[in-house]
Amino acid sequence: MNRISVIGSLNMDLVIQTERVPLAGETISGRDFNLIPGGKGANQAIAAAKAGSPTSMFGCVGDDEFGEVLLNSLKDAGVNTVNVSKTSKVRTGVASIILESSGENRIIIISGANNLVDAAYVDSHWDEIKLSSLILLQHEIPLETCHYIIKKAHASSIPVMLNPAPFHEIPTDVLTKVDYLVVNEVELQGIVPAQVSSIEDVIRAGKEINQMGVKQVLITLGGDGAVLVSNEEVIHQPAFTVNAVDTTAAGDTFVGYFASAIINGFGLKQALVNSCGAAALAVTKVGAQSSIPCNDDTQSFVQKYTTEGVR
Ligand code: RIB
Repeated sequence: MNRISVIGSLNMDLVIQTERVPLAGETISGRDFNLIPGGKGANQAIAAAKAGSPTSMFGCVGDDEFGEVLLNSLKDAGVNTVNVSKTSKVRTGVASIILESSGENRIIIISGANNLVDAAYVDSHWDEIKLSSLILLQHEIPLETCHYIIKKAHASSIPVMLNPAPFHEIPTDVLTKVDYLVVNEVELQGIVPAQVSSIEDVIRAGKEINQMGVKQVLITLGGDGAVLVSNEEVIHQPAFTVNAVDTTAAGDTFVGYFASAIINGFGLKQALVNSCGAAALAVTKVGAQSSIPCNDDTQSFVQKYTTEGVR
């Protein structure tokens, strides 16, 4: 059976909504505060499951209230959580998010239990992981674990999709073993340090990464949509224009939907349309997992937008 395994982070997002951020030494009143399940790994797992793919989460939470809430959020979306470990040594990961009325956000992460996802954890779950049609990774578990998984998956011919967020350098012998690389403009420039100020620049940088050995490079461009660059083709999908209130997890929604489309054999163009449509819907709501749309909503939004130009 086609199945996605996400090996990544689970964070409780502590979200403060405010008109503006305070200056150093200043105290201001904010607008609202909410605890919203998040973490790039868990967000992407939920997006893949909501897009319709059997999805398993691998990671670690603390034996605390936040950990319980995060597991329930995954289960509610249909993600298999039996392989998520619980530790009493450290707390569940958290992300402190300040969201300004302009939609701008600032995030500080305390990794907590996510740091315990190490090579020994991967080895002890490998019998399960190796049954995957696709392994989905981000940079919110220890980097050396990410690199270890990529090499191990490559040796077992299991395709890997890497979303290197937050960005840290990727060694060449690791990058060459990635099948699908999904980056935003900042991450793209971390890999190909060139001036990127047009779609043509983006395509040029994507092709350089193709030449390094990564077959499919996806670049998300916010208001300019997304571009797929491979040796065979280049596809630019313009963005769906919406009223954006919070971009948190828009990238995660894109990645999860794209992963799902790939293992279900969708054409790349259709995969891009679905992923951009889902990401557009995600920015119309506040929060990470609270904003990820289900497949039915995504399909009807894309359909309506395409036929009627609905904004
Ligand atoms: O990509 C969004 C996520 O980044 C948030 O949910 C937060 O937990 C941080 O990990």
